[in-house]
Amino acid sequence: MAIEDSHSSSFFGPWPDRLRHSAIILLAAAFALCALVLLADLSPARGVAAFICIAAAALVPWRLHDAVSSREEVGSVRPVEAAAVSAVVAGIPDPAVLLDRAGRVIHLNAAAAQLAPALRKNELAQFALRSPEIVTALREAIATSESRRASYLDQGLVDRWMELVVTPVPMPTLFGGTEKCMLLTFHDQTPLRRVEEMRADFVANASHELRTPLAALSGFIDTLQGPAKEDAKARERFLSIMHAQATRMARLIDDLLSLSRVELSAHVRPESSVDIVPIIRQVADGLEPLARERQVEIEIDLPTAPVTIPGDREELLRLFENLIENALKYGASGGRVIVSLKEAASADGAPEIRVMVRDFGPGIAPEHLPRLTERFYRVDVGDSRQQGGTGLGLSLVKHILNRHRGRLLIESVPRNGATFTACFPQAKSPISA
Ligand SMILES: Nc1ncnc2c1ncn2[C@@H]1O[C@H](COP(=O)(O)OP(=O)(O)OP(=O)(O)O)[C@@H](O)[C@H]1O
Ligand SMILES: [Mg+2]
Repeated sequence: MAIEDSHSSSFFGPWPDRLRHSAIILLAAAFALCALVLLADLSPARGVAAFICIAAAALVPWRLHDAVSSREEVGSVRPVEAAAVSAVVAGIPDPAVLLDRAGRVIHLNAAAAQLAPALRKNELAQFALRSPEIVTALREAIATSESRRASYLDQGLVDRWMELVVTPVPMPTLFGGTEKCMLLTFHDQTPLRRVEEMRADFVANASHELRTPLAALSGFIDTLQGPAKEDAKARERFLSIMHAQATRMARLIDDLLSLSRVELSAHVRPESSVDIVPIIRQVADGLEPLARERQVEIEIDLPTAPVTIPGDREELLRLFENLIENALKYGASGGRVIVSLKEAASADGAPEIRVMVRDFGPGIAPEHLPRLTERFYRVDVGDSRQQGGTGLGLSLVKHILNRHRGRLLIESVPRNGATFTACFPQAKSPISA
């Protein structure tokens, strides 16, 4: 499959072009020979013969060049320009390839070599870039001399959505003409597509989570208006279920609002300094009734001195509430939850404060760990719903930590509990326990 445009003229142009290019030489020769015939006694036959020789000398090299060019068009772009364009192509951060009009590679940058390892200089690009969308875009760009775009799925170890832009670039040739080269630039659209998919999933999940309690509410309203109208006992029971469902909806909306608030301010690091020790104590005290209900003992191991970090008090309350509540809800079978704080160093050696929430429940299987902070992700949806969960807690935790320039570590050994560690960059004085 040749990419070359069938309408384009050959590199040096057709015969009329060649005559036009040689016209001055031929005219000058004709004048000179006429003058010699008239003034210097040159015989007309010799004059004609001399003219034929000059014309042949002026035209035959063009034909030789044609023969050369048809075999070696890649090298026909002027070296100075080729070097300049190669430097530009090399400097483009995205994958970029410069092709001649026949589709052979003149230059490619490192990113392009990584994207398509089969691309080789002086070889046809279409064999390395096998996507039909690319070949069509190239053909159209050559035929119309206008930019063309194409999207395609690059199926490798990891599938990537790529967008290709083909831009015609006229390049000066060794012999004074121009060659219509093509600059191919590739843009990885995968992150954008992922965000798009996540947004669609998010709307679908949020609507589903709201629709479930809403359906229960309207079902009970129908029953209360109809068959159970006069049944005082059923009314009492249904009203309490309706109350629980309405509370769940309110909680979901609260969580969604908190999440979007934290996301909106993600780029602004909290400025005020807060002591996190009393915040953790306040959360643990507030969850004491839940701990009693689940028969779990909360052990607190915190320093007596203040531990100050740049932080937002309200957000930190929510963060620790989510972690300790999860430990109480999902790790209740272990009967113990330990909340502790220590100083440590991050991988790059920066000092940080680590708050650990450890439970001794069933733990979490390793395949779930990387997905726990996704919105609405739950290991066991039924279990979480039964506990009044919405699946947004850890997502909120992650966003709050991002805003605080911190990170969340999750470690778990199935059947031996889980440890959630919130790490914060350290602000000022070290802890004195
Ligand atoms: N300590 C834990 N032990 C075992 N599983 C846990 C633990 N913490 C979280 N999980 C699992 O992670 C899932 C996601 O937790 P997350 O806090 O995001 O949502 P949730 O608790 O279900 O709902 P919400 O926090 O919005 O009330 C939970 O549903 C649960 O399956
Ligand atoms: Mg939770």
